[in-house]
Amino acid sequence: MRVLAGETLPRPPVWLMRQAGRYLPEYRELRSRAESFIQFCFTPRWAAEATLQPIRRFGFDAAILFSDILVIPEALGQKVSFEQGEGPRLEPITDASGLQRLSEQLDLGVLEPVFETVERAKSQLPPETAFIGFCGAPWTVASYMIAGRGTPDQAPARLFAYRHSDLFSNLIQRLTEASVDYLERQVKAGVEVVQIFDSWAGVLPSPEFDLWCRKPILEIASGLKRRCPEVRIIAFARGGGTHLEDLSRREEIDAIGINTPEDLGWIASHVQVRKAVQGNLDPLVLLAGGDRLDSEVWRIVAELSGGPHIFNLGHGILPNTPVVHVERLLKLLREV
Ligand code: CP3
Repeated sequence: MRVLAGETLPRPPVWLMRQAGRYLPEYRELRSRAESFIQFCFTPRWAAEATLQPIRRFGFDAAILFSDILVIPEALGQKVSFEQGEGPRLEPITDASGLQRLSEQLDLGVLEPVFETVERAKSQLPPETAFIGFCGAPWTVASYMIAGRGTPDQAPARLFAYRHSDLFSNLIQRLTEASVDYLERQVKAGVEVVQIFDSWAGVLPSPEFDLWCRKPILEIASGLKRRCPEVRIIAFARGGGTHLEDLSRREEIDAIGINTPEDLGWIASHVQVRKAVQGNLDPLVLLAGGDRLDSEVWRIVAELSGGPHIFNLGHGILPNTPVVHVERLLKLLREV
């Protein structure tokens, strides 16, 4: 929380994106009790337990709510399922009639188990552990709603947005409003920070980045801060490149997530001069371990030591990452 307020600390605090998940044996055990991933997310005692597992094992400085960005389409009436080993499946939206099938209003009742998960996890978290909620940014959520699945480059949503920009703009607007309502409830239930995940920001040309990523992220951030002035907001626009400098100029954003390929010299002088930055170890380096893990951790810590920094990966932890590599990472960071 101090780094998010702009303080430079001698040792960067650390948490990992997807820190609750399949690389943890205790997660796999818990997960095997649920029939489906969505059912798992919507069962507060399981989701709260998954939130706490990495805190108990490693003592990360922050916990992230266990849920998924695709609970929002579910609460808008678009059924979501996860096929074993294949990722998400939704009924694709291909035209205006697909959009008309969505509900007018976000059904907050469907999301009630998420808020209960926040309350349960919060009551068991150590007081020194920050609690992070999240949502997917409208562009990333819309890209799954349109394709109906994960794709290598979100081509279906890009094509839809070029062909039917009015319809697409309407979908983005609805997701923006839904996200403010959703995050407000997470904050009221107990999270003190929220991260907005725009995992697919990097596939858009500049004009589209402005329209579909930058503008909705800022609208969510300012809308949420009007209702919850104390909340801290981390914007993670993966692949945002030079746009990250522009995001760092906005007062409604407290920290900028940095993905692996960004040049840290440039980030330090163009982004970290204004805001805290979070990142950016390559998840594959953590998987590989060995000397390269040590040297990368030292490099990242050194390059970002001149300003506020939260250590993290550049994207989510990979399921086959050895637990001992995470232990090594934490040992290195605690020696800083
Ligand atoms: O970070 C955390 O520990 C909190 C939990 C979390 C999950 N998903 C759990 C999850 C968070 C923050 C997310 C965000 C999310 N979900 C994003 C944005 C961040 C990113 O990684 O780009 C996206 C794009 C999704 C959509 C999604 N959910 C996909 C594409 C998949 C399948 C890919 C895969 O890894 O299998 C999921 C499933 C999912 N979400 C799992 C977990 C732990 C794996 C499912 C399982 O355990 O059975």
